[in-house]
Parts: sequence; C-alpha cells; structure tokens
Amino acid sequence: MNFELKALDLSGAALEKCEAMVLLFGGDFKPGKDAVSTLLSHALKAGDIDAKAGKALLAYRPAGVLASRLVLAGVGEGSTREVRQALGAAMGQLKGAKLKKIDICFAATPQTDALRAAVSTVADATYVYTSTKSKPEGRTVQRVVIGVPAVTGLQAGFERATATVSGVELAKEWANRPANHATPTLLAGAARALGKLAGIKCEVLGPTQVAKLGMGSFMAVAQGSEQPLRFIVLRYDGAAKTKAPTVLVGKGITFDSGGISIKPAPEMDEMKFDMSGAASVLGVFRALADLKPAINVVGLIPACENLINGRAVKPGDVVTSMSGQTIEILNTDAEGRLVLCDALTYAERFKPRAVVDIATLTGACVIALGAVRSGMFSPNDELATALLAAGDAAQDLCWRMPLDDEYAEGLKTNFADVANVAGRPGGAITAAKFLQRFTSKFPWAHLDIAGTAWKGGAAKGATGRPVALLLEYLLNPAAQKSQ
Ligand code: BES
Ligand code: MN
Ligand code: ZN
Repeated sequence: MNFELKALDLSGAALEKCEAMVLLFGGDFKPGKDAVSTLLSHALKAGDIDAKAGKALLAYRPAGVLASRLVLAGVGEGSTREVRQALGAAMGQLKGAKLKKIDICFAATPQTDALRAAVSTVADATYVYTSTKSKPEGRTVQRVVIGVPAVTGLQAGFERATATVSGVELAKEWANRPANHATPTLLAGAARALGKLAGIKCEVLGPTQVAKLGMGSFMAVAQGSEQPLRFIVLRYDGAAKTKAPTVLVGKGITFDSGGISIKPAPEMDEMKFDMSGAASVLGVFRALADLKPAINVVGLIPACENLINGRAVKPGDVVTSMSGQTIEILNTDAEGRLVLCDALTYAERFKPRAVVDIATLTGACVIALGAVRSGMFSPNDELATALLAAGDAAQDLCWRMPLDDEYAEGLKTNFADVANVAGRPGGAITAAKFLQRFTSKFPWAHLDIAGTAWKGGAAKGATGRPVALLLEYLLNPAAQKSQ
C-alpha cells in the first residue's frame, strides 16, 4: 500500500478530489470559511456528531466538497488511542465501498505518535490475506493520503510509520500462511529474500550444521517431522562492526501438534501461528531495510515442526542442549522453550548489548493477560523499562511479569539438570524461568505473545504484533544508550 503525507488545510481538503475522505477533528476545532468547516459546524450544532472519539458520521457527496464521501470523526484530545478509535469507527462507515484511494485529514496538526497511529490503523483495517486464495479479492485501498495542515517535523515519523506497516504486513503474511505453505524451508526462503535487500545478510543452517553446533534440544523437537529444521541467521549492519548488536530470537514452530503430548483437536489449526515470533523478526528486518538506522541487529530463528512420527521425542527423554545443560522433556508440547534455549546459547557469539526473544510460548500467558498486552519478562530493569515504554509509544502494549527464583522450583528433576515443564500454576513464568537459565551472558528479555500474535474466531488472523514494539525499541536512541 502506498502512503503519502500531504499539506492540506480544511479549504484544501474541500478541494481534494477522492472517493472518500475521513476528517479527524478534536475538541479544539475552530471552523474556517470552507465547505468542510461549514458542514462540520452544522453537524456539531445539530448534535449528530461530537468531538469524542469513537463516533463517525458519513456524508455522501456533500455540497462544496470534492470528496464523494466525507466521514467526520472526533478524536477528542488527539491521543494515539483516540486516533485509533476514531479511525476504527470511520473505516467502519466505509466498509463495503470498494475504495481505491482514501484521504485521512487531520483538522489540527497531530503529534507524531498520533500520525503514526493513523497510518497503522488504516493499514490494519484494509489488510486482506490472499496467499492461498484461488481468486484473491485482495485489498482494494491502494493509496492513502494523510493530510495535515503542516508537514513540518512530521516527515521522519511518517516514514517510520510506513516502514512499520510494511514490516507488520510481512509478519502477518507469514504468520497467516497455513503450515504446508510455511514450512521451515519456506520460512528460510522468506529470510533469504530479505537477505537480498541492501544492508541485510542472511545465512541458513540445516540439520548437519545444527548437529555440529550441538543443539540437541532444538534437534529433539524437530526429529518427529519429515520436514528438515532450519536455523536462520539474519544480520542488519547499519553501524560500525565494533558496536554490539541487539539480537532478536523468534520462535519458529511452523506447526505445533504438541508432539506425543498431543494437543486436543479443537482449534489445533491455530498452531500454524506458532511461528509468529519468527514472523515478527522477519517483519522487523523488512522495516530496517527501509529505514536504514545506524544500529546493528541480529535475528535468529530456530524453525521446525513439532510433529509425531516413529522417531519423535518421548516424554521422559533427556537431551543435551548446546549450553551443555541436560533437559528432561516431560511434556513434548513445551517445545518452544526447547528450540529457543539453543538459539539463546547461539546468541552469545555476537556479544550482544541485549537479547530479546519473541515467542507464542504459553497458553498460560493468554489466561494471564488476554489479547491486550504481551507478557514481558526481564531481570534487567533498564531493558524492561525500555520495552514497556516502546510498547506504549507504538500502542503495541506489553506488561512486565515476575521472575522470582522461587518460580523455578518446579523445574527440578532427578534425571537431568532441568525439566522442560513445572506444574500448571504460573505457567508463563515457569517457561520464562526455564529460558533464563540460558541467558547468563547478556541482558535479556522475553516477550510471550501467545495472546497477542493472532485473533481467533470470525476475525481469525495474525496481528503482526509485536513488530511495532520491537521497531520502536530498536529505533529509540534513548533505549539504545541505556545498556
Ligand atoms: N504454542 C504453545 C502455546 C500456545 C497455546 C500459544 C495456545 C497460544 C495458544 C506452546 O508450545 C505450548 O503448547 N505450551 C504449553 C506448555 C505446557 C505443556 C507447559 C501450554 O501452554 O499448554
Ligand atoms: Mn507446544
Ligand atoms: Zn508451541
């Protein structure tokens, strides 16, 4: 989709020819002499609309306005949340109309965050999945003009917003794909395609190399499937080699059947989304290629299926991880931590300034936080604060969860250094405690996106989260300096 930032005051907006225009106005709206102002003043006076966010009024071919459809939507005080709400309501009014180009006009110049919220909300509302449709209907909206009274100071934020959209959409695309169209090999192909972009390098390791590295834990998960595993290494080098990189590790289980500890049938199809963490890493790299910031980033994706054949790993099997720690696999459905732990050990070689892993790790996190906030775990206060702030700024929220050592009690076993599951209580936290054992060499945070990476039900589909949070974290110079 093509976005354009354009200087448009209300009289300019009235003269803008388009199929549809959304006018976002706040409580501070002061009418001018133009046709849009007149119409809005009348509607306000009549009580058909007010500046509160969430309501929208559609006018068809209003007099003196060149837009065929004009949607008036209040944004209250203009916060990111209000802009999201307003555009949600406005886009609802335009549902069904097959529009190619729309204009979103701010009556008053927005804050950068609000402008970015507008870009991401419109992209979200118009995204359509097409990959495996025989007659794809596709997205009708191809062009979005964002009109603001003055563009001064908004260009950089706008560019970041459109790059974020391209990253979010790549993440959605790959997460949405069914598992037979997103095998570990195909996922590696997507990473290789990113490696063709300027500034990005991609290397893909297969079973032999992974065995040589001693990733016995990752290999144990992959051994129950006919699809060979892939270990994807992406690099974005925007700064000097001496500058320590941030490493992102994305869980890439392309389908999670649970293995021998098999999952129940209802909704098992949703386990095609179990590589959403990996997809978010791909999305971040897509955006980095566009934005070319002066930072170094490494992306690691352990990708495999968690399936069941005659060679599949069995409950009680003990494997040796790359770190040397032995692991008793009591539940083969707790496979995410088994692939992540070896990737975390691999991350040590980059001497990272920080490592953030992103994983649809536990159903328990869905119970704890629902679909609003991702679970964020870190023993490092600075890193945790930076991620929390990035989530707020990007409106891709997370919430810090505890990591007290007492939570690790249940991971003790008589037969290995550690077990891969504890009991049901605090399941998201015990999973994080397992991962923490592999992170002694660097500042580390873990994002459990099990509740936020996709929506179920009628609107079933990937959300592209937490691409926006991660980009905000990586691109915020304050956050970069803090470690
Ligand atoms: N991929 C799942 C987690 C998951 C479940 C995400 C439901 C989203 C919705 C993960 O591999 C898993 O199966 N976790 C188990 C862990 C348990 C066996 C300790 C879980 O959450 O049930
Ligand atoms: Mn599982
Ligand atoms: Zn899983």
